[in-house]
Amino acid sequence: MKAFFLCDIIKKGDNMKQKIGILDSGIGGTSTLEEIKKLLPNEDYIYYADSKNNPYGEKTPEEIYKIVKNIVEFLIAKNTKLIVLACNTATTRCLKKLKIEYPNMLFVGTVPAIKVACDNNFKHTLVLATPSTIDSERTKELIRDNKRIDQEITLISCEGLANAIETHNDKKIEEILLSVKEQVQDKNIDSIVLGCTHYSLIKDKISEIFKDVTLLDGNYGVAKEVKHQLLINNLLNEEGHGKVDFIKS
Ligand code: DGL
Repeated sequence: MKAFFLCDIIKKGDNMKQKIGILDSGIGGTSTLEEIKKLLPNEDYIYYADSKNNPYGEKTPEEIYKIVKNIVEFLIAKNTKLIVLACNTATTRCLKKLKIEYPNMLFVGTVPAIKVACDNNFKHTLVLATPSTIDSERTKELIRDNKRIDQEITLISCEGLANAIETHNDKKIEEILLSVKEQVQDKNIDSIVLGCTHYSLIKDKISEIFKDVTLLDGNYGVAKEVKHQLLINNLLNEEGHGKVDFIKS
């Protein structure tokens, strides 16, 4: 009993030092990080912004996996206790494989919030994401599992948009959004799923162009799942300060 108690203290002490790792192909995942910090202000974080390899969404699945695996190994070497793929492209293309390759690591990923749109009875949802996410089997699976017969989903891959956001190219951002609007002008879109974490950083711009449309992203769901995983694995930290070590490639 005594030994068990001691063990428990040691384990708790370790948790205090271990951080949550977060990765994305740049600044997009900071939208996810902010949501996680609201729910878990007493954790510390390492954020890996892989701007050098942006955009992931226009690379082959093999290239994406190789890049993401390298960052995962870097974060594991930094003694992280859970890794968040704050990137829909990385999640739809790599999460299942990573869980098999690193069975002792906890992973939480983000996927387009298609389930949220369907559960909230939106009738015609527009899903915007990178070409790789749109083409992924995981996105097809999400539609298959959640869309009812009276609901419609339109998918548009926004080539260049994540990179325009990463490089603060406002002219390009506007050009891409206006072209998307033109493609759906005859449809009665009532909701837009922001299926790329970069897009959550330009919510105001999207709302300005698509008036009276509800915007949905997966960030709150991810934050809840991170908290749940830490809780059930007894890894919650109550003594951190929301400190973020920001690493940029
Ligand atoms: N932010 C990423 C996502 O959620 C990736 C953007 C990119 O690098 O193409 O998909």
